[in-house]
Amino acid sequence: MPIKTVVKMGNKSLANASLSVTNFCDGELISLIDDMRDTMQQYGGVGIAAPQIGCSLRVIIFGFDKNSRYPNERAVPFTILVNPVLENVTDNIIDGWEGCLSVPGLRGLVPRYHQVRYSGYDLNGNIISGVAEGFHARILQHEVDHLDGILFPHRIKDMKSFGYEDELF
Ligand code: NI
Repeated sequence: MPIKTVVKMGNKSLANASLSVTNFCDGELISLIDDMRDTMQQYGGVGIAAPQIGCSLRVIIFGFDKNSRYPNERAVPFTILVNPVLENVTDNIIDGWEGCLSVPGLRGLVPRYHQVRYSGYDLNGNIISGVAEGFHARILQHEVDHLDGILFPHRIKDMKSFGYEDELF
């Protein structure tokens, strides 16, 4: 199984902006997405971005039925998004607890838009778009941030709402 190591905060590949994918229907893109899916499953994540496995391309995947890291959240459909773009639907911003496979053991309270419109491509280059809300929208914003070198701790407004999962909850 092509399980990769998830790099952690401080690694350079998490700090840089990633490049847009230009070649679709391509073996490298397919194996990147396979590796991301296997790695996300192995680590128990609800989403993962390519830079987290050391690849600086604008690719994210996410989705789950039930997840032990976020036991109270409703299922999110499994989605592959290449070159994702987000737009705000409302100005409604809500705080929610987030973690990240690249920031293991820590959680923080992060403000995110309640609703976003997303668009991007699947691995064959077909356009995908839709509107997401709640935790679904939160995951999208978190994963797209990875493509711009932003991690959830950078978004926390009150650093008192940041700490170790086993101490906070
Ligand atoms: Ni993350």
